[in-house]
Amino acid sequence: MIGKFISLEGVDGAGKTTHLEYLSDYLVQRQLTVLVTREPGGTNTGEQLRSILLDATEPIAPLTELLLMFAARAEHVQKVIRPALLAGTWVLCDRFTDATYAYQGGGRGIDPRKIEVLERMTQGDLRPDLTFLLDLPVEIGLTRRRGLDRARDRFESLDLEFKQRVRLVYLARNEAEPRMHCMDGTLSIETIQDEMRKKLEQLLEESTR
Ligand code: TMP
Repeated sequence: MIGKFISLEGVDGAGKTTHLEYLSDYLVQRQLTVLVTREPGGTNTGEQLRSILLDATEPIAPLTELLLMFAARAEHVQKVIRPALLAGTWVLCDRFTDATYAYQGGGRGIDPRKIEVLERMTQGDLRPDLTFLLDLPVEIGLTRRRGLDRARDRFESLDLEFKQRVRLVYLARNEAEPRMHCMDGTLSIETIQDEMRKKLEQLLEESTR
């Protein structure tokens, strides 16, 4: 594969959106073709599934939630991510399967071995080349989200304990996965982006070797 696959993760309110824009601008400046996408979503069907998944008014079973996440991912991987990477495009994805381990595994309590089976079915050996994890205490994430002028979605509506479990799984995965790079989400935007730029430069160097 010629393009590189970068994902961005973190608890809700960690500031992913701001940083995604920065990463994209930086790579475009370096003359790369970039695709910014998100999960759940990234295709027409995926975005429809996203509406169901985030709809806080209609309860769904944890297993349904897990399968819909992977249904959206199957569309995304087959129709968007793989073709883009094969064409040499760098893919920047707002969340990917680490989020499933964190939210459905840690948060909902689904056995990670079940997630692994679906991961293999859906992605084969496709994994991000680099994953930025923006870590911060969940209370801070919650405070940042309080300013929103829209209704909270299914995951934003969950309690602090759920979010703590999500955070712990993200941190455990960061320990286990060398592709993950954890950053303190409470630091200034400039400090975080300086660090991101250094990691991107490393990846660019590796990709041209
Ligand atoms: P966003 O708010 O960052 O766009 O993400 C949408 C929500 O979906 C977020 O609260 C995390 C959740 N999510 C999961 O629970 N599992 C997943 O696999 C993904 C990709 C997202």
